[in-house]
Amino acid sequence: MDRIYLDNASTSYPKAPGVVENMRLFMEEIGCNVGRGGYAGAYSAGEVVYDTRERLCRLFHSPKPQNVIFTSNITASLNFIIKGLLHPGDHVLVSAMEHNAMMRPLVQMEKLGVSFDRIPCDGQGQLLLDQVEGLIRPNTRAILMLHASNVCGTVMPIREVGAICHKHGLRFVVDAAQTAGVFPIDIVDMRIDALAFTGHKSLLGPQGIGGFIIEDSLAAELDPLISGGTGSRSDSEEVPDFLPDRFEGGTMNLPGIFGLNASLQYLEKEGIGNILQHEQTLSKRFSEGLAAFDCARIAGTEDPMKRAPVVSVDFTGRDNAEIAFLLDSQYGIMTRCGLHCAPSAHKTLGTFPQGTVRFSIGPFNTPKEIDFAVDAIKAILSTY
Ligand SMILES: Cc1ncc(COP(=O)(O)O)c(C=O)c1O
Repeated sequence: MDRIYLDNASTSYPKAPGVVENMRLFMEEIGCNVGRGGYAGAYSAGEVVYDTRERLCRLFHSPKPQNVIFTSNITASLNFIIKGLLHPGDHVLVSAMEHNAMMRPLVQMEKLGVSFDRIPCDGQGQLLLDQVEGLIRPNTRAILMLHASNVCGTVMPIREVGAICHKHGLRFVVDAAQTAGVFPIDIVDMRIDALAFTGHKSLLGPQGIGGFIIEDSLAAELDPLISGGTGSRSDSEEVPDFLPDRFEGGTMNLPGIFGLNASLQYLEKEGIGNILQHEQTLSKRFSEGLAAFDCARIAGTEDPMKRAPVVSVDFTGRDNAEIAFLLDSQYGIMTRCGLHCAPSAHKTLGTFPQGTVRFSIGPFNTPKEIDFAVDAIKAILSTY
C-alpha cells in the first residue's frame, strides 16, 4: 500500500530536494565547528551559516543577517523571547488561537506576575481586530500572535496588528510556524519586532533547526535565556553584546543549518507563491470533495484560497479518532487527530473537546492523492 502523507502542518515530508545531501556533505566532508577553528573547513562551514542567515533575510525581507538567531525550533524561539522580555507586572495580548508553544511559556510567566489577555476570534478563528485597541492597558508591552492557525489554517491580519503595535509603542512578536516558506512575510513592512520560525514545516528543512529574527532595539532589551561560549571574545566571561552571538551560546546545529540552507535554495528556485498556489488548489479540491458529506464540518475560514493549506474536519456524529485510525490502517493516509496542541483554538472553533482530523497539505502532494483521500473518507463513512 502506498502511503499518503497529509500531516505537513506537524512536519513536512518529504523534505526539499538537496536537504539530505547537504546534511550528509556536512557530516562526511566538513564536520568541524564554526567560529572555533582557524582552518579552512571551519571557515567554509561558517560561510554556509552566514549564507543561510542571508537567505532567511531575503525570504522575510529583513535587512540584517546578524539579526537572524538560530535555535532548535520555534518553541525554543518563543521561550527565548517571552522569558527574556517579560517581567513581573507586564501585560501582553495574544490571540485566542495560539499554539501551546506560545501559551505554555506565557502561563509559566503568569505564575511570576506577568498577565495576558486573549484577543477574541470568531467561530472561524478570525481575529476580531476592532477589539484589539480596547484590550491594551498602560502596562501592555507586546502583542504575540501566530500568523496562521495550525488547527484550521485561518490567517491573522498581521499587517493590521503590526500597525496597531506601532501606534501604541508595543512590541510585535509573530509565530510563523505555519506560514514561513509558504506565505509572504515582510518583517519591516509588517512592523514585526521578532519573527519566530521553525525549519521543519513549510521551510522544508530538517527537525531541530529554527530561530528568530529580531529587531535591534528589542534585542537590546532581551535577556539571553541561554548563554555560553560563542568562539568570540574568549577573553571575557560576559555575554557578548553583539548579534548573533548574544543569543547563540553553545555549538549550533550545523547539520540542521546545512539542511535548511538546501531547502531555502529550493524555495527560492520554486518561488513560495507557486508553492502556496499549489497547496491551496489542492486544499480547495479536498474541501470541495468533502462537501458531499453532510457530517464533514470543516473548521476555520470557509474559503480554502484564503487559509493556510490545512483542512481540519470534525466528522459530527462520528468518532474522529476512529476515522483517523481507519484512514491510516486501511488506506495508508497519515493525518493528525485531536487538539493539535491548541486547546484555546479548538474552544474558539467549537471543536473542543472532540478535536478534529487535520489533513495538512504540502508541496509534494498531488491531485491524485487528494482524490484518493476523498474516496477513502467516502468508503469509511458509508460503513457506519
Ligand atoms: C502555530 C505553531 N506554533 C508553534 C509550533 C511549534 O513548532 P516546533 O515544534 O517546531 O517548535 C507549531 C507546531 O506545530 C505550530 O503549529
